[in-house]
Amino acid sequence: MFGEIDHIGVAVEDLDESIALYRDHLGMREQHRETVEEFGVEAALLEIGGSHVELLMPTQPDSGVAKFLERKGPGMHHVAYRTDDIQAVLERMRATGMRLIDDEPRTGIQDSRVAFVHPKSTGGVLTEIVQPAGRH
Ligand code: CO
Repeated sequence: MFGEIDHIGVAVEDLDESIALYRDHLGMREQHRETVEEFGVEAALLEIGGSHVELLMPTQPDSGVAKFLERKGPGMHHVAYRTDDIQAVLERMRATGMRLIDDEPRTGIQDSRVAFVHPKSTGGVLTEIVQPAGRH
C-alpha cells in the first residue's frame, strides 16, 4: 500500500530557528520552502535519505498546526506515508473502517496530493497519505 515514509512533520514556532537547528546540529540540508495556503502553514523540507523532515510553522491562527502548538507546544506532529495511488488507499481505508479527516485529497507541499487520517483510528498518530506530484 505504501512505498516508504515520505516525511515526518514537526510543528515549530520559529521556522528560521528550526531550519538552523536541523542544519547546524543535525546536518540536514534545506531543500524546499513554501507557504501552503491550504493548510495555513509555512513549511520547509529537510533532506534525510530519500525522505524529509517537514518543519511546519502556522501562518493562520486557526490552522491545525497553530491549534496543535497551543495544545502541546512544538514537537512531532504527523507521519506521512508515500503512495502512487492515493484514491486507492483512501478507498481501502474507508472500507476497513478508518476515520478519515479528508475524504478527498487536498493540495499539499510541492503540489502533492495529501489526505489525513484521524489519530483516533491510528493509535494516536496523526497520519498523512501523500501522492507526490507527477505520479499518476
Ligand atoms: Co506533512
